Amino acid sequence: MTYDISNDIRYIGVDDKTIDLFEGKYAVPEGVSYNSYLILDEKVAVMDTADARKTGEWLANLRLELSGRTPDYVIVHHAEPDHAASLLALVREYPSITVVSNAKTFALLTQFYDHDFSVNSIAVKEGDSLSLGRHCLNFIAAPMVHWPEVIVSYESSEKVLFSADGFGKFGALDVDDEWDCEARRYYFNIVGKYGAQVQALLKKAASLDIRTIAPLHGPILRENLGHYLSQYDTWSSYRPETEGVFIAYASIYGNTAKAAQALATLLRSRGVKVAVTDLARDDRAEALEDAFRYSRMVLAASTYDGGIFTPMADFIHDLEGKGYRNRRVGLIENGSWAPMSGKKMCEAMESLKDVTVCGHVVTLKSGFKSSDQASLEQLADEIMA
Ligand code: FEO
Repeated sequence: MTYDISNDIRYIGVDDKTIDLFEGKYAVPEGVSYNSYLILDEKVAVMDTADARKTGEWLANLRLELSGRTPDYVIVHHAEPDHAASLLALVREYPSITVVSNAKTFALLTQFYDHDFSVNSIAVKEGDSLSLGRHCLNFIAAPMVHWPEVIVSYESSEKVLFSADGFGKFGALDVDDEWDCEARRYYFNIVGKYGAQVQALLKKAASLDIRTIAPLHGPILRENLGHYLSQYDTWSSYRPETEGVFIAYASIYGNTAKAAQALATLLRSRGVKVAVTDLARDDRAEALEDAFRYSRMVLAASTYDGGIFTPMADFIHDLEGKGYRNRRVGLIENGSWAPMSGKKMCEAMESLKDVTVCGHVVTLKSGFKSSDQASLEQLADEIMA
């Protein structure tokens, strides 16, 4: 299967299906791709490299597509090691190659690697371009999408946007799955904190005639580009994508879980779309994705050591870190002698931008009983108000 963009723009990236955790944290059961491209023209440009886990395979792909030619340039859009860690091997194999990026990238590369990348280099900034012959790369700054040095480039003859991490997705390229699901999980966990910066990039992209989006992870996007741009606009502006309630629970002996599930049943009986997550057992990156996806969220947690049971405390830490906002939140607490998790969760949620916490908090004192149903109904009324 070929992922080439055209005869002149070849795919030389690699799939990684053996990585256990992306960025040392995120489960990627379907792997991940490190995308890299080669532009063959009067001058030859390598577009990014690959993670060190795949240097050999990536170099083999490069050599094959070069067919004996020597690359003139390597464009580094992003210095993070999943894309730049094979740069050292590249410059050793092709010592005449010129590294093209911006000043911030050269500083970061010097921090990561014991090599002076500035010796044979061109530092570009927004508005600069690089002609390869028929093809021309136009550089656009995209700071914090997802590191400060990031640039994207627009190749004007074939109308390709090389979008760095933007529009990336978890999953190897030979996996046939829905883009939205794993692109959304990727977005909110990797880039989600930087909504304002993604919005800035979308505004710049709106002035370009884009035929193809070539990200650094996931499939090359060639059709229905409006859908992907619209999803990115929704996500980066913190607008809910799905009307409904996301319920996340952290339960010690299963009683808080029963209350969470009972609330889900109640809401579904009222026609509300609901997703439920066990924060101790389910993928927390997916929980974060759903928190941002849904218009409303209910947090249900036991009290533990006078505070919030730790799977929920960790999840709230993630929500704070990723800039959760602009949602209505309800709370269910549990505590056998001194319930405190509701108060602590309320404090955390109220500190977030444009988050409204329901006034009624469901308080369980150990088990979930039929007498708690009325309190649950009151929360269901308020969360949907
Ligand atoms: Fe895919 Fe931010 O690196």
